[in-house]
Amino acid sequence: MFETLPAKQPDAILKLMMAFREDPRADKLDLGVGVYKDENGATPVMKAVKSAEGKLLQDQDTKAYVGPLGSPAFNQQMITTVLGADADTTRLRCAQVPGGSGALRVLTDLLVSARPAATIWLSDPTWPNHIPILTAGGAKLSSYPYFDASSGKVTVDAMLETLSKAAKGDIVLLHGCCHNPTGADLTHEQWTAVFDVMKSQGLMPFVDIAYQGFGDGLEQDAWAVRAMADALPEMVVAASCSKNFGLYRERVGAAIVLGRNAAEADRALANLSTIIRSNYSMPPDHGANVAERVLTDDALSADWRDELEAMRVRMQSLRAKFADALRKRTNSDRFDFIAGQKGMFSRLPLTPEQIESLRTENGVYIVGDGRINVAGLPNDSAELDQLAENIAAVL
Ligand SMILES: Cc1ncc(COP(=O)(O)O)c(C=O)c1O
Repeated sequence: MFETLPAKQPDAILKLMMAFREDPRADKLDLGVGVYKDENGATPVMKAVKSAEGKLLQDQDTKAYVGPLGSPAFNQQMITTVLGADADTTRLRCAQVPGGSGALRVLTDLLVSARPAATIWLSDPTWPNHIPILTAGGAKLSSYPYFDASSGKVTVDAMLETLSKAAKGDIVLLHGCCHNPTGADLTHEQWTAVFDVMKSQGLMPFVDIAYQGFGDGLEQDAWAVRAMADALPEMVVAASCSKNFGLYRERVGAAIVLGRNAAEADRALANLSTIIRSNYSMPPDHGANVAERVLTDDALSADWRDELEAMRVRMQSLRAKFADALRKRTNSDRFDFIAGQKGMFSRLPLTPEQIESLRTENGVYIVGDGRINVAGLPNDSAELDQLAENIAAVL
């Protein structure tokens, strides 16, 4: 029977990862894969996570099911981490889910079940996996303009113009911070203009926040999602602990719902529970248990915040150095935008041929749309300069 299935290609990023692995060159450089890397090119287990895992091994006394919604304490901590200590918890509910991807999928199921005719609007461009995840949930998708590749800036007027024509009841997927793949975020003023259009059009936010702590800081990066909770009556949020806890393979995330009132929030959570039960039944425990231990222990939490902050500062300094090297090598300011962008990604204005040439000639692996992982940039100034020279040479 399997002969009836369509042939499938691995997705572009997985294909790039495989090609990188097979490349025998010692000086090859992976700017493709979306995981944080330290100055040695490693993705280590964070210290607070390691310590919480040690405690878990010692004192965990059961492997019984956690229930479809996961641990109440984890869920409460995630609401506080994302929406702040002052959030109106009477209208907020949370489910522990397998990663940001799991959150996106179960929340899509919830939204489609609540409002089957709604369109979900995605930024153009967006994280490529949004499209298959939301489509698998049965959502109707459309896109709003977001990014001008030549200036590296958000095309906010075009975004507002498109959203002002969306139908009442439509849903808008917004990257809470550190937009993937562009690194271009809205300013507070621009966010406020987006909220105004959404309010007047009756649109609902679906926030994806996968990089909290990677942009301007853990609290600062939550500004938009918190302001949205104040400005709009309802919202759903897909949060991931993959990046800011480095818990990628453990699959930890949170699906958060803000209802108009407590009764509607409860109804949404009960539906989410049913969706989860009929899908993977219960979330994995290990990673969420570790995140919960970190967030509920003052010393571990402080340690985690410090390490996360050091990762953020490292990426920001790499951005500044890379923009500087490119300014010198290209004799222009066309790459200056890299320094001011946020998070782990930026998108270089390169053609597919230039990207291909960097891979074949220099062993530099960049995703086909020009997205680079800033954390993968060389720490060594001579190597960074060489990369800038290679990029200047293909322009
Ligand atoms: C924008 C965005 N959302 C969600 C995710 C999902 O992350 P995970 O499912 O690994 O937690 C990612 C991962 O790369 C992402 O970049």
